[in-house]
Amino acid sequence: MRKVFILALVFIVSLSCCACADEVKIGSCIYTFNDAFMLRFRNAMADESPKLGAELTLADSKNDQTTQDAQVDEFIAAGVKALIINPVNRMDVQTMVDKARAADIPIVFINREPMPEVLASYHKAYYVGAKPEESGTQSGQLIADYFHEHPEADKNHDGKIQFVMLRGENGHQDMIARSRYSVLALKNAGYEPVEIAGAIANWEKLQAMNIMNAFIMSIGAENIEAVLANNDEMALGAVEALKANDYNKGNPEMYIPVVGVDANASALDAMNAGEMLGTVLNDADNQGIAAVRLAEAVASGRDIGTIGYEVTDGKYVWIPYQKITKGE
Ligand code: GAL
Ligand code: CA
Repeated sequence: MRKVFILALVFIVSLSCCACADEVKIGSCIYTFNDAFMLRFRNAMADESPKLGAELTLADSKNDQTTQDAQVDEFIAAGVKALIINPVNRMDVQTMVDKARAADIPIVFINREPMPEVLASYHKAYYVGAKPEESGTQSGQLIADYFHEHPEADKNHDGKIQFVMLRGENGHQDMIARSRYSVLALKNAGYEPVEIAGAIANWEKLQAMNIMNAFIMSIGAENIEAVLANNDEMALGAVEALKANDYNKGNPEMYIPVVGVDANASALDAMNAGEMLGTVLNDADNQGIAAVRLAEAVASGRDIGTIGYEVTDGKYVWIPYQKITKGE
């Protein structure tokens, strides 16, 4: 009897050891840790991993593709069973896909979309993200709705919307499509948008603030009727510049509607304080959860149909955006 008990104990102990050894190690590179939206994304992945029995290691690629390539080499050498990559340069990822293929491990790209042919080059390459045209359209609609409710927002009564556009990083799919589709949404709502000033501010609040200050100096805040920013950080930079010029501080005569994308906490605060019109939820939680579930499922040889998110064309997980305005 005693012997049976000991044997059973040995069996249980060895079982639990197997479970430890089986813990799927995932290596993830983030283009920079210095990005408010990607912080939410990282947290979502870190929260989900232990629930799946996966061990996630996050690396800061410090906005340098060479650094990131070296991190990928280190992860593979350390024996990770899956990679989750937020590329520094989404056009420069074929090499790491080839490395993942050589190691026979899945590679899930997030937030910065590689070209379709790169994903097609390896059957375990995937992309988890959100469709930027959706967020562009929704942010344009927020401005259109505002003009609909506030005809006086057309300050110079010319029937057109004179707007400032603050763009994200050059070449980023979100910068390209959000810029285009936000303007298109205004046109589709029957307005005539006119870009009186625009610049790339690389997703950064400080850059956007300086650029907006310069625009206010050269154009005059009274001639700006709306600000479309490709993300919240840049929208908040614009808000800072406006506030420094006594705009968006509560006086309805001195207000310019500003919209962003992401729905970061700081933007929601600004919106609730009446400094910013609205934003679009970029759902970091669901993108993060989907990314680790996909990586873990493929690494464990499980069907990707089990992850709880639709995998389009066997390659893409698309998480929807959602408009956010005050009081909703
Ligand atoms: C976008 C997001 C930006 C920035 C960028 C980084 O989706 O809206 O705030 O995080 O990704 O690639
Ligand atoms: Ca006008």
